[in-house]
Formats: sequence, structure tokens, C-alpha cells
Amino acid sequence: MPNHSLQKIDPRKVSLAPMLDWTDKHFRYLLRLVSKNIWLYTEMVTTGAIIHGNNLPRFLAYNDQEHPLTLQLGGSIPKDLAYCCQLAEQYGYDEVNLNVGCPSDRVQSGAFGACLMAKPELVAECIATMIDSVTIPISIKTRIGIDHEDHYEQLHALVEKVSQTGCRYFTIHARKAWLEGLSPKQNRDVPPLRYEFVYQLKKDFPECHISINGGITTLADMQQHLTHVDGVMIGREAYHNTYLMADIDHYFYGATETKPSRKDILHRYTDYVEQEMIKGVPLIYLTRHVLGLMHGCYGAKNFRRIISENAWKKNQTADLLIQAAKEVNCD
Ligand SMILES: Cc1cc2nc3c(=O)[nH]c(=O)nc-3n(C[C@H](O)[C@H](O)[C@H](O)COP(=O)(O)O)c2cc1C
Repeated sequence: MPNHSLQKIDPRKVSLAPMLDWTDKHFRYLLRLVSKNIWLYTEMVTTGAIIHGNNLPRFLAYNDQEHPLTLQLGGSIPKDLAYCCQLAEQYGYDEVNLNVGCPSDRVQSGAFGACLMAKPELVAECIATMIDSVTIPISIKTRIGIDHEDHYEQLHALVEKVSQTGCRYFTIHARKAWLEGLSPKQNRDVPPLRYEFVYQLKKDFPECHISINGGITTLADMQQHLTHVDGVMIGREAYHNTYLMADIDHYFYGATETKPSRKDILHRYTDYVEQEMIKGVPLIYLTRHVLGLMHGCYGAKNFRRIISENAWKKNQTADLLIQAAKEVNCD
């Protein structure tokens, strides 16, 4: 049974991991229907896309319901990061996060993401400049190491340097990244998880808010990690098994009301889909995010099949979701 003190509950206790192409504003809206409390992150947006792209709303727009919401930036030029932080503050984001964990080649050639772990001074300079440019909090998401630089002392040194800038919010993906030889996808599974590194960081930096990320798939996992660190960040499981997150308001945020059913959530998301289609968003962009909502229910496979086979068809309407849900036997 969850045990909540009367103290204010930490809003960063459970967060949604930033995931390129997955955690766009439509998925975040869906997840907000599932949990009122989970802290949401955008996908990584590069400073280059914001500064040189010609469509700011495409990169920065979100739905009001999404708060609390962090914009994740990819970049390593302090003044560009500062400028993007200022835009984020104007747009009303609650926090900006610097990505120091993405291992893709494209990101490495732009000299940001995980390869920044080898340059703690530059990371600290970026974070210090970001902090100076805005009043909203600045946070950082890193791996535990890269390539052969994977000793706890190196992670400790990075966190020490960054925390000296005044940065207090750290999320650690508890596996290192191999920058050469492994794809981004393999880098999410192949290097082993070393949760003990993250637990040790919390002991060494008790004043910092430390969230742990990587391979967390159950409420029991979350509860166990929260006995060592301040927050848990959930990625793939939140996308593929979305309804799992419906329990976190009760377990971790003290909510007492009954959680919404899967079908309630689907109906409310269908209303949103209708509105978005009126604005010109293609149905297929909106339906792909619900495929994980019925995970584990009898008929979930048919639900996914009906949506996947029909969402791209001309003149298809949002009602497709309601029709597909008739296949499912769940609460
Ligand atoms: C499709 C996909 C895209 C991702 N994109 C990003 C990203 O934009 N920024 C980032 O920091 N991490 C990104 N990640 C990594 C996740 O944030 C997370 O660290 C990783 O999936 C491990 O957490 P999990 O085991 O709970 O999924 C991505 C992961 C996936 C699966």
C-alpha cells in the first residue's frame, strides 16, 4: 500500500523519458489522460533545428494540459543553448534538459549527446550559460559512461562539475553508450545496466535530485528504485504498455480517485484526434500512439491490426479508434 507523508509530493518522482518520434505532443497528451501527475519530456530538439529551422511551433508547440513539461535540447554551443532556453521559457516550459546521452552518429557529428560525456568542462559551461539565461530550472540527462570511460569516478567527476554550476536535476540512464560499433537501438539494450552507479551518486550528492532510467518496467521496480533515488524515468514501457502509468498517481502521488479505464481514456483521446484532424493533422500521426494502450487485454492484437490496416485510408475518421476498441475485452 502506498505510504505518503503530508509533505508536498515531489513532482519529478515519475517522469516520461524523451523519445524521438514517440513522445511528440500527441503521445504526451494521451499520457496526460492516463496520469495527471507524470512529469513529461519532449523528444530531443536540436538547437540547430530551433535556430535555423523555419517552423518554431513545429518544434516547440504543446498542449496546455501537458504541464509539468520539460523541453529536451541537443546542442553544445553555450550561446545557442541559452537562446533556446529563453524561447522555451517564453513558450511556458517548466524546465529545459540538456541531452548528454544520445549515441547516434548524426548527433556525434554535431558534437553533442553522449560524446559530451568526454568533455565535462564544456558540459558545465553549457549548463552554467543555460542557468544564467532563464529563471526556469535546467536539468541534464546522461549515461553512466561512454566506451572505455566507464568508471564510477568519471561519472562522479562529471556530476560534481555540473553541480558546481548550481544545476540540481540529474537523470542518469544507467548504462554506458558504445559510441562506435553499436546502433542507438543496441545502445539501449546491449551495455549492461549498472543501477548501483546511480544509487551511489545519490549518496555522494544528497543535495541533488537524482532520477534513474533504463529497463524499468513495473510499479514494483519503480518502488524499489525510489528507496535509493529521488525519481524514476520510464521510456519504452510507457509507450508499449501505456496503461501501466495509470497506477502511478495512486502509488506515487497520493491520488485517491479511481483511475480512468482504458476505454474512458480512448474516448477522450478520440475527441482530441477529431480536433487535431480539423487542424489538418493526418489520422495516422495520431493513432499510432494508442497501439500500446490495450497491451495485455484480450483482443489487443485485433485492436492494433484494425487501426494499422485502416488509419492511412482516405476519408477515415477518428471513429476508427472506437470501432477498434470494440474488439477488446477490458475494463
Ligand atoms: C525511440 C526512442 C527514441 C529516443 N530518443 C531519445 C531522445 O530524444 N533523448 C534522450 O535523451 N533519450 C532518448 N531515448 C532514450 C530514452 O530516453 C531512455 O533513456 C531509454 O529508452 C532507456 O529507458 P527505458 O529502458 O525505460 O526505455 C530514446 C529511446 C527510444 C526507444
